[in-house]
Amino acid sequence: MTARLDPDAIPEMILFLEQERAKGVRFLRLDPDLARAWVEGAGALDGGRFISAVAVPARVASSGAGVSAKRQALETLRAKALACAKCPHLARTRTQVVFGVGNPEAELMFIGEAPGADEDRQGEPFVGRAGQLLTKVILAMGMTREEVYIGNVLKCRPDVETPSGNRKPTPAEMATCLPWLREQIGIIAPRVLVALGDTAVKGLCSEISTGITRLRGKWLDFDGIPLMPTFHPAYLLRNPSPIIKRQWWEDMLAVLEKLQRPITEKQRGYFRSIATPHGES
Ligand code: URA
Repeated sequence: MTARLDPDAIPEMILFLEQERAKGVRFLRLDPDLARAWVEGAGALDGGRFISAVAVPARVASSGAGVSAKRQALETLRAKALACAKCPHLARTRTQVVFGVGNPEAELMFIGEAPGADEDRQGEPFVGRAGQLLTKVILAMGMTREEVYIGNVLKCRPDVETPSGNRKPTPAEMATCLPWLREQIGIIAPRVLVALGDTAVKGLCSEISTGITRLRGKWLDFDGIPLMPTFHPAYLLRNPSPIIKRQWWEDMLAVLEKLQRPITEKQRGYFRSIATPHGES
């Protein structure tokens, strides 16, 4: 017999399995009734849906004790996103969907363009060299990676010919993926968004055509949330000029001000002397 899974049930299945794994469960006994429920047309169990009358809802609910509503909502969304195949070419080539990481209650959310090779392998955004620089700047802002939320406009690595190569996501790919991010932002409801790089800005605000050099440092709006466009950390790795560093840092200071976070004199001073050698600060 060929067993075919009900595609609608897959996100719930993934959620259940991930929760079991988080609890340390390594092996599951497959209940024959449950297995039958997975098979399309099993009918007797809630139209063949995995989440049916079998024990799953109770177990999912019990593991949710003490978990914030936002975390639970994000987990549900994540489970759905992990099964997304709206871009078949990306679903075929990705190692995994890179959904996002961080605090579901974050006040601040960083948004990049798309996972690279490291992120595709590890399933977490901004873990490569650019990510390490982003982590440094978050720490310099007086925060931690765990305190903020980090995601990308595109949740799959753009397919490339060579495993080490990268390409930018296309506007069409970003538009297809944007609803996931929009829902993510809707759940987290951060007070401030930071778009990292030109591609991320265009992915969020497709009506904008101005380049990032002119756009950076000026507040935009995304679904009613203040959005700071700034450089991508990979750009700083390629152009480690003190002026660019200072501009990037000034954008972060503006973010801290918007969040009404205290800023020390030391923080205010980073890169200032180098970037403004003629004393025009
Ligand atoms: N660049 C991005 O835009 N996102 C990542 O997750 C990694 C690198």
